[in-house]
Amino acid sequence: MTAENHKGLAGISAGKTAISSVEASGNGLFYRGYDIRDLATHTTFEAVAYLLIYGELPTATQLNHYCEKLQSLRALPDELKTILEQLPANANPMDVLRTACSALACIEAETDTQQQADIANRLMTSFSSMLLYWHHFHVHGKRIETQTDDHSIAAHFLHLLHGEKPNDLHCRALDASLILYAEHEFNASTFAARVTTATRSDFYSAITTAIGTLRGPLHGGANEAAMELIAQFKTADEAESGLLQMLSKKALIMGFGHRVYQHGDPRSPVIKQWSRKLSEDANDRALFEISERIEQVMKREKGMFPNLDFYSASVYHLCGIPKPFFTPLFVIARTSGWAAHIIEQRNDNRLIRPTAEYIGPAPREYPAHE
Ligand code: COA
Repeated sequence: MTAENHKGLAGISAGKTAISSVEASGNGLFYRGYDIRDLATHTTFEAVAYLLIYGELPTATQLNHYCEKLQSLRALPDELKTILEQLPANANPMDVLRTACSALACIEAETDTQQQADIANRLMTSFSSMLLYWHHFHVHGKRIETQTDDHSIAAHFLHLLHGEKPNDLHCRALDASLILYAEHEFNASTFAARVTTATRSDFYSAITTAIGTLRGPLHGGANEAAMELIAQFKTADEAESGLLQMLSKKALIMGFGHRVYQHGDPRSPVIKQWSRKLSEDANDRALFEISERIEQVMKREKGMFPNLDFYSASVYHLCGIPKPFFTPLFVIARTSGWAAHIIEQRNDNRLIRPTAEYIGPAPREYPAHE
């Protein structure tokens, strides 16, 4: 079997994990055995993060303590605020998060692996603070207070973004989206984090690696690219003819397709319901109708289905979240999954170093010099 048969490591099992399992048929995604549809319906992102990082769902008391702990970790050190103020106003928000993560490693370094869960919690809860401190400083000239008393990461994010207590429906929609984005087996950014971890590097380096990998439009960046696609059209009919044109030029339609799922992404119907609910609540169905028509055309013309990123775009838009913050929200959610994988890799580590099939010139003479 040559490397060409497995280009992009497609179809290769690259290790064992007890964190999540994916059914390629599209029927399911399970976090430590729990169906994501049950998790998204019955629990909160904080409980899911606890499940991923500590291995079991929390009891009610454990969850209360965990939420209080997360709440206490939202303030930023002055050194980090100074760095955020120095970054350009037009920086890519993913670069801001990657840099801020790296900077926090210098300020609150990992000196002992016993700190790993605490660092995971610190990053997961303070990424919103970092992003929105940078945003308000540059856009509104304000140094915002990031330590709020909001009960969840979703509410904290929306509160900092809009500067007022968030709408409950928006918090619940965002919370569900964070649950769906939290973990996904050996996806590209998680695998990248595991490669870094396997060298016995520190926790922050693994997360920084993962953020850089998530940034690309074939991975996390797809939710922003999907929004760009949807926003081009004013009506569902316009979307249909626009899409047919794009398909005739063999364009890649962002928010569709998946490396592992063959027949559907189990997360998509859940996020689609939220998109419908938010559009009804806003009495603004245009975006949802355009999205649904694109979904129908893709199914009819290409037999393709939307992945999680597609309807996440309209959900975030309807929560009043600007497009450049879509992928950073993915970072906030996926930090829980990355953390679980870093911990798992450390518990049974071996350097990850595959080999390559060489296709260059055969050994040859070094040219003689005059
Ligand atoms: N739109 C149009 N055609 C698509 C497509 C899309 N979104 N995704 C895949 N295809 C086509 C490819 O062009 C290719 O066609 P070909 O065989 O005629 O060349 C075929 O389907 C196989 O695609 P390939 O790129 O080999 O699949 P992959 O497993 O390497 O890639 C993705 C998977 C997710 C990277 C790919 O589907 C994609 O780029 N999707 C859009 C980005 C996206 O939504 N990413 C988020 C993933 S959760």
